[in-house]
Amino acid sequence: MSSHLVIRVPGDKSISHRALIFGAIAQGDSTITGLSNGQDVRSTQCVLTQLGVRFVPGQAGLTIHGGGFDGLRASDAALDCGNSGTTMRLMMGVLAGRPFESTLVGDASLSARPMARITTPLKGMGARFQLSAQGRPPVRVHGGTLAGVEYDSPIASAQVKSAVLLAGLQAPGQTVVREPALSRDHTERMLQAMGARISADGPHIVIEPGPLQPLTRFDVPGDMSSAAFILAAGMLTRAVTVSHVGVNETRTGFLDAVAGMGAAVERRAGPSEVEPVADLTASPARLGPLELGGELLVRAIDEVPILAVLATQAHGRSVIRDAGELRVKECDRLAVTATFLNAMGARVTELEDGLIIEGPTPLRGATVAPHHDHRIAMAGAVAGLVAEGETIIKDRECASVSYPSFYDDLKQVVE
Ligand code: S3P
Repeated sequence: MSSHLVIRVPGDKSISHRALIFGAIAQGDSTITGLSNGQDVRSTQCVLTQLGVRFVPGQAGLTIHGGGFDGLRASDAALDCGNSGTTMRLMMGVLAGRPFESTLVGDASLSARPMARITTPLKGMGARFQLSAQGRPPVRVHGGTLAGVEYDSPIASAQVKSAVLLAGLQAPGQTVVREPALSRDHTERMLQAMGARISADGPHIVIEPGPLQPLTRFDVPGDMSSAAFILAAGMLTRAVTVSHVGVNETRTGFLDAVAGMGAAVERRAGPSEVEPVADLTASPARLGPLELGGELLVRAIDEVPILAVLATQAHGRSVIRDAGELRVKECDRLAVTATFLNAMGARVTELEDGLIIEGPTPLRGATVAPHHDHRIAMAGAVAGLVAEGETIIKDRECASVSYPSFYDDLKQVVE
């Protein structure tokens, strides 16, 4: 038997949210396997349950009894999205067209995140909302009749795009969304597979209302954004394979970025239907500097903290640009990444829209404060693998937002 380490990460978070939401608004029963077991996806399921959707777990996967948009019922209680921006923003698109009122709330981190980027296009379709004076949650949705819109999004955001498309599914006429660069396109692929009247030409999408067929036997691939932490640990320590990972091109910026640094990640393609899948193997390599910006940054938007950790071990000056969006993620990821890496002895300079990292620098153990951000906690733990002395991750449990078994899996890499 080979002693080669193979790890399977939880189901893709973005695809899992969509499978639950789209299954709920489809006409009939969808059965889903491989769903993420993270807290964020649980938040989506809880919110949909509050709106009257029935979920039945079974041997063949989780069955969603979809009753179309009209199957959704008003909830007396506020809909708690926890830490999950995707839950809140996509549900705003769903609820904007429902003939009832809803209130969406979240934890302290989500309550600090901008929501006007969603209400602006949806208001153009006739929807009505109330937000805090700063455009933040709680979000009160006064749902009602919508009309199609043509929206040029100023940012490449799959959450904005998906919210508008979900509203467009309920709005007579055509809805057109254009974004400056193609963000993750799971919504377009899945809606197409469900028989929606949607056409997508890269970042230019047109949708018309119509019923959705259920997702019969849909399998969610592993999450590229979770796999990135294990693959990075492999590049810094020993060879490791992450099996059955979703490798949709709009999500594989991490693989291209590390290839540019000289770390070849081997791919073995698996069977794929709606979403392409592969086994990925990373091995230790001498790393050159990271150059990340433009369209590549969009395709690696959630992998910047772990790429910054790798850059501290790379030979040369790494530059990350065009990453201003990171300041409004679960925390200010540019500031928090620079702070924890510098506390570990790295040489990181913060730019308004990025980071400059001089490498390689030896790291020393430190206490990492992830500000309840799962991706910072996990990036800190991987940095801890190559640091001299002990690294302590405060509120380490926040990793369970996307990757509940992360520390156990990481331990296997160093055992
Ligand atoms: C997501 C889109 C991205 C990403 C987030 C998940 C999604 O956010 O950062 O983790 O599932 O649509 P933006 O659309 O705001 O860039």
